[in-house]
Amino acid sequence: MQTIKIGLLGFGQIGSGCYTLLKMRSRDLAQQCGVRFQVKKIAVRNLRKKRQVKVPAGLLTTDAMSIVRDPDIDIVVELIGGVTDARKLVREALLRGKHVVTANKALLAEHGDEIFELACRRKSWLLFEASVGGGIPVIKALREGLVANRIDSIHSIINGTSNYILTRMSEDHMDFSEALKLAQAKGYAEADPRLDIEGIDAQHKLAILVRFAFGGRVKFKDIHCEGIATIRKEDIEFAEEFGYRIKLLAIAKRGHTGIEARVQPTLLPKEHILANVNGAFNAVLLRGDAVGDVLLYGRGAGSLPTASAVVSDLVDIAKRGTDRFADLTLVMRAIRSELRVASISTILSRYYLRFHITDQPGVLSKISHVLGKYGISISDCVQKIRSQGSVVPLILLTHEAPERSVREAIGVIDRLRVVRGPSQVIRIESGSPQ
Ligand SMILES: NC(=O)c1ccc[n+]([C@@H]2O[C@H](COP(=O)([O-])OP(=O)(O)OC[C@H]3O[C@@H](n4cnc5c(N)ncnc54)[C@H](OP(=O)(O)O)[C@@H]3O)[C@@H](O)[C@H]2O)c1
Repeated sequence: MQTIKIGLLGFGQIGSGCYTLLKMRSRDLAQQCGVRFQVKKIAVRNLRKKRQVKVPAGLLTTDAMSIVRDPDIDIVVELIGGVTDARKLVREALLRGKHVVTANKALLAEHGDEIFELACRRKSWLLFEASVGGGIPVIKALREGLVANRIDSIHSIINGTSNYILTRMSEDHMDFSEALKLAQAKGYAEADPRLDIEGIDAQHKLAILVRFAFGGRVKFKDIHCEGIATIRKEDIEFAEEFGYRIKLLAIAKRGHTGIEARVQPTLLPKEHILANVNGAFNAVLLRGDAVGDVLLYGRGAGSLPTASAVVSDLVDIAKRGTDRFADLTLVMRAIRSELRVASISTILSRYYLRFHITDQPGVLSKISHVLGKYGISISDCVQKIRSQGSVVPLILLTHEAPERSVREAIGVIDRLRVVRGPSQVIRIESGSPQ
């Protein structure tokens, strides 16, 4: 039986999970694809680090480049994360004609054009199932199961940390900082959680989804991105009063002026499928013109769930190694044409607006007058009354309005003397599907 030799770069959460899964399933995998996988070398940063998963002496090295340059290695599995070293190593592996599997969304979002182009030129496999949605096979669904469709939209929860924080805020009435601390204590959030809570991790993943769902190059910086750090407990509670939950959504859809792609906190009706994706779970809702709505749900992170996606890429390469060009059409399309990403200012949406106002007669009419001047009409309103002169929240939901008008109106409202502090603006997504 043929042996495929693997060079593993990284032995952290995912690298060690991958090694464990390959060992656990070695017999089944050999039966299924007629080859044996052998991890020949593993790169780490620190040889002295205590590791929960034990490996034979001599397997570990700190010289990742020596693995990439080893003529005996067939597939390089990049699981070190970060961009600079990962980019050098992946480029070198591809230049040497090796196949590459990676879980590195930052690398693919920021340098995808260069790396996919290189893989095509060198006629090598470059597979990345684990880079979006952890264990959820969303890339495979786009590449294979949904290949007969034109994808019209993606609505997704693809950052488990943010979803965990928002779930705790909603179910346990915590404020943001309390929920973040809990996420860190449970190991869902890094010590430096900025990539997650500022939406950048989801922005990276959405850039990859957009490329393969809509077929073209996309600059990840063109994807509008807002995180969850400004969401207050009161926003979660007011949203509930109106029948909504707040989720960090990564959305992409075909619009009149290009692909609308954005990562944003969003009000979703409580009965919406994605409003019920809780904790650290992820979900991707795809709409194809032939199939309609397809929901993929599962663990978007974690050692074995993510390793499950990495190993599925290895099996793909093992099974189709001789037929490697069949799959390149999708990659070619995704790098040869340019996708136009519509500017956020051109989108139409409904909005949740929260103001802190001094509680005195005529404030609501002042604010609605400004909104009216910008053509924004109000669909619902809640004003909490305390005592004359105190600061109270005023919440308005709007009918559909252009983003540009809403931003300009808010700029004016925030300068009114009766308004205290910056206003909150959260977009609302419509109700279907349920
Ligand atoms: N964690 C998840 O749930 C998850 C989910 C989906 C995708 N991913 C992606 O998977 C990749 C790996 O994530 P992870 O969570 O496994 O990271 P991690 O736990 O921090 O592990 C990183 C590993 O890479 C090694 N390493 C880092 N830089 C190196 C270098 N220059 N040379 C050699 N070894 C190096 C580290 O060595 P030491 O052990 O010696 O420090 C460590 O073993 C990232 O791209 C991440 O975005 C992670």
